Formats: sequence, structure tokens, C-alpha cells
Amino acid sequence: MKIAVLPGDGIGTEITAEAVKVLRSLDLKFEMETALVGGAAYDAHGHPLPAATLKLAQQADAVLFGAVGDWKYDKLDRPLRPEQAILGLRKNLGLFANFRPAICYEQLVGASSLKPELIAGLDILIIRELTGDIYFGQPRGRRTAVDGHFPDSEEAFDTMRYSRPEIERIAHVAFQAARKRSKRVTSVDKANVLETSQLWRDVVTGIGKQYPDVALDHMYVDNAAMQLVRAPKMFDVIVTGNLFGDILSDEAAMLTGSIGMLPSASLNAGNQGLYEPSHGSAPDIAGKGIANPLATILSAAMMLRFSLDQPEAADRIESAVKDVLASGLRTADIHSVGTKRVGTREMGDAVVASLTHKTTKS
Ligand code: IPM
Ligand code: MG
Repeated sequence: MKIAVLPGDGIGTEITAEAVKVLRSLDLKFEMETALVGGAAYDAHGHPLPAATLKLAQQADAVLFGAVGDWKYDKLDRPLRPEQAILGLRKNLGLFANFRPAICYEQLVGASSLKPELIAGLDILIIRELTGDIYFGQPRGRRTAVDGHFPDSEEAFDTMRYSRPEIERIAHVAFQAARKRSKRVTSVDKANVLETSQLWRDVVTGIGKQYPDVALDHMYVDNAAMQLVRAPKMFDVIVTGNLFGDILSDEAAMLTGSIGMLPSASLNAGNQGLYEPSHGSAPDIAGKGIANPLATILSAAMMLRFSLDQPEAADRIESAVKDVLASGLRTADIHSVGTKRVGTREMGDAVVASLTHKTTKS
């Protein structure tokens, strides 16, 4: 089992170190190789996704990714910005299926900005299509307008685009995931306005006929954004396109009160995957040793389950995280009165201690 470890920028290095520590504490043999990505790679090699890093990722069974980005790269040309590294990895590895669970941990109910009764027990899975849509559609660019309301003025344009097979494969992923849960899929689109969304709705409806045991409904994205804060527990699996999924998954993450807790998985057709926390590089707290490593540790658990065929090890990590929370340890982002505030490293150590303690006992 080969894991490419790409820590990236900001808190990326600190949180990935803890996830690596947790992986090493399991009685499993991994080959792990680390490479630069994002701003760190740009500084060292002049490109956010150097060829050697891409090759390492392609050859690995799974990629453990930290986070990329920092304000200091904002002025670079777009192809050189740190974000291009993650987009390039998604595209080059064909990672079209993005799983973003939003789970509200019992001990963290109070950390959400929503009323506890709205989010207690919340367990939603957002499945976001990740290699199509307006993110990658061509043509795009800037030019001088020839028509429209303001001819001869500067304009910019992007292309929202989806093909039938792209929608079919993500729809299958969503229905199959729903079968393992409470068998409900909500497909989110903007079919009242957009052609891409009308095709999306038609195709998802068609694929849904192959899954008669799964209930399918459709929702416009504006309404979905509203329902997510009104009554989030109405959802089980949400399947949506790249742009809507980007926005709704941040919204859903915040329902749980703690984006620092949420892992994600991005898979291709061969189950090769990239695993990263749902949060970003948080340059404002980088280097302070206070970032929450749990989202990355939980991403490592998803990696064991989805790409490395080690579901038991994944369960063990997830239950160790719950134990650590139950014992009252909290990083700054989830800290509240009556709990013990710890740093990044102490949190990682506590997960390892819980894991190894259990091994000894059993
Ligand atoms: C995400 C991020 C990325 C995205 C950025 C960093 C390119 O927001 O993974 O959600 O827009 O997909
Ligand atoms: Mg995002």
C-alpha cells in the first residue's frame, strides 16, 4: 500500500503530520512518500504541482493531502496559484466523485450556530461532482465584448458544461452510497434556469429508475441552501454539480459547528483516491500548533476504508476520535467551557494513545 503524502501550505504540514502519526501507530505496513504541493512547491520549484509530485500521486494507491493556499500567492497568474495544484490533481487523476460528510458529533452540538435540536444527530453526505462543470468548462477567458449591453467593454466568461456520461457516473455513485444509508437521494440543480441543470435532472431521473429502492427528489440550489439551515435533517445523500457542491458543502460543514472535524474523499473510477480535510490552509493560525488535526485524521480513516481496503482500521480511528472527544479534549476551534484545550500535537497524541490502548486491551 503506497500513500503519497502532500502536506501543502499553512496548517497543512502540522495536521498531516498528526494523521501520518496515527497511520504509523496501526499495525499495518504502508509505504509513505512525501512531496511538495501548492505554494510550498511553487517556492521551491516554480510550479504548484511539479511533475514529480503529480507522478508520485498517480503511482500511489491513495493521496493524503493537507491544504494549499496563502494570501501571498494571490497576485500570481492563475496557472501558478496554489489552488491549481488541487484542481490539477483532481483532473489528472480523474477524481470525479467527492464525498463530503457533514456529521454532528454528539459532544459538539453546542458548537454550531444553529439550535441544538436542529442539528443533534445530523448525518448528511454531500456527493459533489468534481471534474466537470464551470470549473473546467471551455471556453473561458477575458476579452473585449462585441455585443451585449456594453459592447467594446472588457468582459469575462466561463462555460458551465456537463455531458450525459459525466452525470450518469456521479448519479450511480450517489444511489449506491444511499443504499448503504437511509436510501434517500436529493439531487440539487438549477433546472428552472440552466440547460446544464435540465440535462442533470433528466439524467439523474433516468439513472434513478435503476434504483427503485432509493427515493429520489430534486431541489433547486437556492431552496437547498435555505433548507440546509432551516431543517438540515431532512437530507440524507445530496448529489450535485461541482460549483453548487462547493458552496453547499461549506454551508453543510458549518451546520456541524466545526469545519475542523470534517474529512473528505475524492475518488476515481478505480477507487484511487485523494483524502483531505474539508477546511483550507488557514494561514492566520499556521505555525502556532493550534489547528485541529481531526479532519485530516478522519480523512486518513476514509482512505483506509475506500482505497486501502482496511475498514476495521478505519473504524478504529473513528472510534478513537470519538473517545478523545468524550474525554473532553478540544482544540481551539471546538473549545468550550468545561473542556480541556489542547494543541495540534496533543490532539494527535491522544488519538494514538486511544488507538494503541485499545489494541493492547483486545
Ligand atoms: C474546495 C475548495 C477548492 C474548490 C478550491 C481551493 C479550488 O474550495 O475543495 O472546496 O473550489 O473546489
Ligand atoms: Mg470549497
